[in-house]
Amino acid sequence: MSVGDEILVRGPYGNHFPVETVLKGQDLLFIAGGIGLAPLRSVINYVLDNRDNYGTVDIVYGSRSKDDLVQLKEIQEVWAKAKDVNVHLTIDREQEGWDGHVGFVPNYVKELNMSVDKTALICGPPIMIKFVLQGLQELGYEKTQVYTTLELRMKCGIGKCGRATSETNTSAKTARFSAATRLTNYRTNIKRRLKKMQEMVNIYVYGKKYSVPGDLTIMTAMEYAGYQLKRGCGCRHGFCGACATIYRIKGKNELKTCLACQTQVEDGMYIASLPFYPIDKRTYDIEEISAEQRVMMDLYPEIYSCVGCNACTKGCPQSLNVMQYIAYAQRGDFKKCAEESFDCIGCGICASRCPAGISHPMVGELARRLNGKYIAPKSEHVKNRVAEIKEGKFDDLIEQVMQKPIEEMQELYNNREIEK
Ligand code: SF4
Ligand code: SF4
Ligand code: FES
Repeated sequence: MSVGDEILVRGPYGNHFPVETVLKGQDLLFIAGGIGLAPLRSVINYVLDNRDNYGTVDIVYGSRSKDDLVQLKEIQEVWAKAKDVNVHLTIDREQEGWDGHVGFVPNYVKELNMSVDKTALICGPPIMIKFVLQGLQELGYEKTQVYTTLELRMKCGIGKCGRATSETNTSAKTARFSAATRLTNYRTNIKRRLKKMQEMVNIYVYGKKYSVPGDLTIMTAMEYAGYQLKRGCGCRHGFCGACATIYRIKGKNELKTCLACQTQVEDGMYIASLPFYPIDKRTYDIEEISAEQRVMMDLYPEIYSCVGCNACTKGCPQSLNVMQYIAYAQRGDFKKCAEESFDCIGCGICASRCPAGISHPMVGELARRLNGKYIAPKSEHVKNRVAEIKEGKFDDLIEQVMQKPIEEMQELYNNREIEK
């Protein structure tokens, strides 16, 4: 920063961790992923500054790579040396110069088999939180022992991003920014967006020019311009993959891809949506195939024509390493392919850019199905619940729900356990 730069400060919003009440005297288990360490860092430092008020401290922290572990110096030189503090670091994939643990945070938490007399505090990406919560439950933790941030409900504060994500430019997302760079980008974006809220920008939808408020997403800008979206519009929150879009900024040669519901308009943006992209799904009976490498050769042989151009990865709005998951599929490593493609929303952007004609989302889907059916441990509770449904245990309940007026249904929906 330079002298004279403006700083925007917002918040704090939401609730704090109850350090002065409930957490006092407790053994604490901090679990963080990526930049999610930031909100927990102040809590950890508070606990260390008031060491006598708390029991033992375990810190499980992971990131994509060693370079993405934030505050590493402080973690190794201060936290790891503090009294009764155990630090457990992990990174997602093996990396030269790293001899520590490798693997995802939720798996590591389960491997560590923490005793259940601790109070857990969690912050990280939504998908990490989801699986950490499941893992803690499997270890025997009660819900009342766990405090988590709710990333999925976070909004950017100016109503645009829908989540805590600040960067929506797909090629920029694809680049593996360091955490510090992401923070800098976040601040820059907020500033830019506040300015844009007062500005009108010119965009070109299917070649026709429109002047729209600069703070809109592509999707809302199209509606502002008078389009009624019947295709290419679904969840509006980056989950369904229906709004794949391609654009170019006037005067720049780079052709970009994105989700229309997650990307803010820019001046001079030429936009075309891809409401449907012809992806090729092969027919198979999951009961009659097995998790062998041969199955990919039989069903999706074109994956072996991959030329390694990485266009699929660069285009993915979910920042998935698409080329890597195709490589796992080629090797018949369906478990890794399933994990790497787990967040695929089937938008089809990768397939639209692939010179080898690969239908990546379908390959990922097959790997996940094989993994679920033949490789991953069986989920007994799902089996039992399916049997209960088949026996008609919930028929009356479903009938009652179907008879309820719409207002009551909305009330029930908004007050589901998951919303509390
Ligand atoms: S892997 Fe392909 S289909 Fe899946 S989200 Fe990424 S670009 Fe879309
Ligand atoms: S776009 Fe197609 S050819 Fe290029 S790396 Fe991805 S899968 Fe391979
Ligand atoms: S509308 Fe669902 S991802 Fe954009």
